[in-house]
Amino acid sequence: MPPQITPPGRNRGGPAARFGTEKVKPKDMKKAIGRLLGYIGKDKPKVALAVICVLISTGTNLAGTYMQRPIINCLGGAISAGDTMRYVMLMLLAMAGVYLTGVIAMMIQQRVMIRVSQNTLKRIRDDLFGKLQGLSVRYYDTNSAGDMMSRFTNDVDNIGLMFDSTILQIFSGMLTLVGTLALMLRTNLPLTVVTLIIAPLVARVAAAIAKNTRKYFGRQQAALGAVNGYIEETISGQKVVKVFNHEAKAKEEFAKLNEDLRDVQVRANFLGGIMGPCMNALSQANYTITAFVGAMLTFFTKLGKIGASSFAALDIGGLSVFVTYSRQFSRPINEISNQMNVIMSALAGAERVFAVMDMEPEAAHDTNLVNPERIRGDVVFNNVTFGYNPDKTILKNISMYAHPGQKIALVGSTGAGKTTIINLLTRFYDINSGEITIDGVDIRDINRETLRENIAMVLQDTHLFTGTVMENIRYGRLDATDAEVRAAAVTSCAHMFIKNMPDGYDTVLTGDGSNLSQGQRQLLNIARAALSKAPILILDEATSSVDTRTEQHINRGMDALMENRTTFVIAHRLSTIRNSDAIMVLEHGEIIERGTHEELLEMRGRYYELYTGIKELE
Ligand SMILES: Nc1ncnc2c1ncn2[C@@H]1O[C@H](COP(=O)(O)OP(=O)(O)OP(=O)(O)O)[C@@H](O)[C@H]1O
Ligand SMILES: [Mg+2]
Repeated sequence: MPPQITPPGRNRGGPAARFGTEKVKPKDMKKAIGRLLGYIGKDKPKVALAVICVLISTGTNLAGTYMQRPIINCLGGAISAGDTMRYVMLMLLAMAGVYLTGVIAMMIQQRVMIRVSQNTLKRIRDDLFGKLQGLSVRYYDTNSAGDMMSRFTNDVDNIGLMFDSTILQIFSGMLTLVGTLALMLRTNLPLTVVTLIIAPLVARVAAAIAKNTRKYFGRQQAALGAVNGYIEETISGQKVVKVFNHEAKAKEEFAKLNEDLRDVQVRANFLGGIMGPCMNALSQANYTITAFVGAMLTFFTKLGKIGASSFAALDIGGLSVFVTYSRQFSRPINEISNQMNVIMSALAGAERVFAVMDMEPEAAHDTNLVNPERIRGDVVFNNVTFGYNPDKTILKNISMYAHPGQKIALVGSTGAGKTTIINLLTRFYDINSGEITIDGVDIRDINRETLRENIAMVLQDTHLFTGTVMENIRYGRLDATDAEVRAAAVTSCAHMFIKNMPDGYDTVLTGDGSNLSQGQRQLLNIARAALSKAPILILDEATSSVDTRTEQHINRGMDALMENRTTFVIAHRLSTIRNSDAIMVLEHGEIIERGTHEELLEMRGRYYELYTGIKELE
């Protein structure tokens, strides 16, 4: 049997697959096992039942074989034909009963363990997902979606594989090993010694073949990951491939990866394929040697050269039983060593899962010094300094204020730090020094839920969930009525195009709204924010993909909406922010100019350059 590997279907070409050759080893096995056992939780009685079933099925298996001995001996014995017949029939019936019990126990064990395993996996997935919801934006910014997905899929799958069968297989393998050894000793000592010499040799050879096979299966995983990754990339980037006429190059690159995959697969499967025949040959050799020695012992016992009470004495039934046992003997050794790989990768997977579970969640704190019902939206940034990483400061000494109902615009070139300011106000990240207050309260003294409930936001990158248009807009305020949703859509100019969709507001959006234009997606995101009653509104490049005429419409609609709210607007198209109460011009993380549109134009500084399109080359 080839070593346990992830079947190709499970390979999603994620990071785990790409580094498939790496031997996965858990760092702290005991700890991982302990935590996994904790997850079995209230299924412990079921596990106990499964263990009992394993004991029964292994025991019956061993006993069933041993029952052959008296049968065979009786056949060669001296009692009358009728008695022999009756005895053999009776024994065969008993044997059938014993084996049947074993089969039933095995079936119960499988059924129970699969249930336990799936219950456990469900708990782990629930916990992991729950945990992910509590993690900070920083975690999402620094970890790839692919990595997180692979924890949910590959790692959890591996744990499942272990629970489904491996643990019990190892347990039953060990029982079989001990049981077989005991029965072999009971049958004949010299023959047992012969087996004990040959069996480890067989196991050693098997392990050597398995090791090589594993190496190639590992390479196959990596090659498969590379091919899958390439396909995935080319499919999702097909437009870019076409536009830049990269088809021929893509084919060429793919052909190379594909060739690697074929070569490595040929080797892996060849080695996997010869494993069985090799093992067979070895076991036949073992069989022949054992049978030869056994036959000699039986022969000499019959001749009387070996006394019937001697430890070397063997009857024909004993010989027959013994060769069966000796054949069985090396099987559990191979099985156990193969299953150890599954356990190792399951434990390594468990560690990756637990690593996420152990992540520090967004610091939860209950201090809430504001009345959540009555936040007015008086925002002050006081000497705020911040960097995503300690070694690089992005924002330097930002000070600004926004009184309730004011509209503050943030402008500046790409990468100046506009979105970063917003990330701080929503506490996606915490500031390094300085202070941000809302209604005079430091936002670190407002619990996150309250804070975010009071902020409506249109993010620079839009996001839509699978669901109807109505549901997607309602995401902005779950208790909004249909009429309110429609009103918000009208405000954001989304109503026009929604009306023309096949099912209007009931049209189902899938794949992040892939059937919508970029601008339409933005309109839905604006509608979502318009629906919210939060006193603070943030529009980060909310209308960057919308045509100027629609933008003007939205602005008119939004003006009414912004009347009582503190609004932060980020826009590159400066015409949209002309009527702001104050405009902050950001450059390299610093506010370099501030004032109203007119004042800033008068200054003839950076804003003037941005507005008029005149830009001195630095
Ligand atoms: N998650 C992050 N981790 C590390 N650095 C980041 C992160 N997000 C942004 N930055 C860096 O912070 C700086 C400011 O980025 P920010 O997104 O605030 O710019 P912006 O003014 O919004 O630009 P744009 O107009 O392109 O949206 C950039 O230099 C960027 O590289
Ligand atoms: Mg930005």
